[in-house]
Amino acid sequence: MIKIALPKGRIADKTLQIFEKFIGESLCFEDRKLILTKEKFEFMLVRNQDVPVYVERGAADIGVVGLDVLEEQQSSLVRLLDLGFGKCKIAIGSPNHYTLDFSNPNLKIATKMVNITKSFFAKKAISVEIIKLYGSIELAPLVGMADAIVDLVETGDTMRQNNLKIDETIMEISAYLVANPNSFYAQKLEILEIQKFFKTQIQS
Ligand code: PRP
Repeated sequence: MIKIALPKGRIADKTLQIFEKFIGESLCFEDRKLILTKEKFEFMLVRNQDVPVYVERGAADIGVVGLDVLEEQQSSLVRLLDLGFGKCKIAIGSPNHYTLDFSNPNLKIATKMVNITKSFFAKKAISVEIIKLYGSIELAPLVGMADAIVDLVETGDTMRQNNLKIDETIMEISAYLVANPNSFYAQKLEILEIQKFFKTQIQS
């Protein structure tokens, strides 16, 4: 049995479409069900940020998760494949008419990605105050709580509609197929077969 953790939403749908071709059967979660078993596969639906937890603890053997989550959680999972979908980026943004000045010693940055933000500024030897938020990050500079944000940008609509600009891109993001290191060792052939199939599917 191979257990697979998927992040609820579009990425799970895309991944399931590929697994449908791999298994040769249709895969559809019933209503509010969180587990779907088909042949020797067990799929589970979890929150994006929780995928590494399930895979690290071995509740799932493999999973699909955004690079942002892997980097933020400094997760030590085996990165099997960059799936090339779920694309977005992590960027620093600030109000359109504001000039972001990295030499300002009192910069306040709002973000939900504290570790990525810390390491980005530490590498530049810039000291910043980080304000941890859980969502609607774009609001913080609009109400004067932060000078800038570090956040995910997909279409750019949220930033645009809130009069924010991108000052710098920190990282390009996409979804990754990952594995628990022990599962990868114990079920190497099966997992490599999945990886190989996904590779052919994302190239075509
Ligand atoms: C994410 C991100 C941005 C938005 C970017 O938020 O934090 O706010 O999507 O997308 P866009 O560039 O296409 O506008 P999410 O929708 O996950 O909600 P959140 O604010 O609750 O984190």
